[in-house]
Amino acid sequence: MLLLGIETSCDDTATAIVRDGRTVLSSVSTNQDEFHAKYGGIVPEIASRQHVALLSAAVDDAVGRANLTLDAIDGIAVTRGPGLIGSLVVGVAAAKALAFALEKPLYAVNHLHGHIFAAFLDRDEPIPFPFLALLVSGGHSQLVDVRSPIDLHVIGRTRDDAAGEAYDKTARLLGLGYPGGPQLDRLAREGNPKAHAFPRHRPDPGTLDLSFSGLKTSVRYFLESDEGKLAKREDVAASFQAAVVDVLLARVSRAFEGGKYNAVVLSGGVAANSALQGAIREWSQRNSIPAFIPPPKYCTDNAAMIAAAAYFQRDVVDVDPLTLSADPNLPFEIIAA
Ligand code: KG4
Ligand code: ZN
Repeated sequence: MLLLGIETSCDDTATAIVRDGRTVLSSVSTNQDEFHAKYGGIVPEIASRQHVALLSAAVDDAVGRANLTLDAIDGIAVTRGPGLIGSLVVGVAAAKALAFALEKPLYAVNHLHGHIFAAFLDRDEPIPFPFLALLVSGGHSQLVDVRSPIDLHVIGRTRDDAAGEAYDKTARLLGLGYPGGPQLDRLAREGNPKAHAFPRHRPDPGTLDLSFSGLKTSVRYFLESDEGKLAKREDVAASFQAAVVDVLLARVSRAFEGGKYNAVVLSGGVAANSALQGAIREWSQRNSIPAFIPPPKYCTDNAAMIAAAAYFQRDVVDVDPLTLSADPNLPFEIIAA
């Protein structure tokens, strides 16, 4: 089954062709960073306009790179939400038009489910259910109990900032450009993670919830202090990163205490982080629990993950091309249209 994936929930205009939810024939992503960088963050109106300008060519590109024509695809998978409304609407409108004109099925996917199914891409061995997914992106940080492709439950969530947001804001405090996460990751490699003891917040020990705003604030106060003004930026970056990784790893470890998961999946933009990947892999070896982490190109927003989710959820995400609408606040647990 060949699906064309379309993802425009935020600032990446992404398209892909994926066979049977696993084999990526093409994955195209036009990064808009140059248009948003001077504002230090994503400007929704600019993002929507760029999607309008880029999407049609991105569809042609994905189909062409897979050496196919549109007639050969078996369906269209699109991100329905959550995300920026103006951005989502562009992808949803394009997918509806294509599905209607080509008379092919349309599958509407939750962006966050897409991040989890990114772990299935270009991988031969199956990921055993039930598994725990740690989904850490610019907009979300959550622990997900994945019992089957259509039975997913959030069991821990951030109370304030998402992990990626904490990375981006801290990167800005350190004078790094946008997007800050990857740059902070690189800077941290040169620093000492034990140089500064930043707090490890764990709200309500009885829950699996997360919190990152206190950490970001401590880094800010530290940088304003006399000691902080003299501190090496590499050390501050590495120490901040160590605090984020410690908190995430402690939550994963705690979720496994019940022992009901067969694997851990790390996904979302922050899953591209080298220290987090290292820590999860080390933990997985120590506990003999397999860890599945997508390659960096499938950790950040992409359309192959949307086509993968649509394939595995196809019986319940099949929608009518005439009535589908984008939902910027699509709840995590809602799968059926
Ligand atoms: O999943 P994603 O592409 O978009 C959302 O749905 O949010 O995630 C983007 C986030 C940004 O906050 C970015 O700074 C962060 O992921 N990120 C990283 C790294 N690569 C991307 N954070 C830390 N280390 C990285 N290597
Ligand atoms: Zn995302």
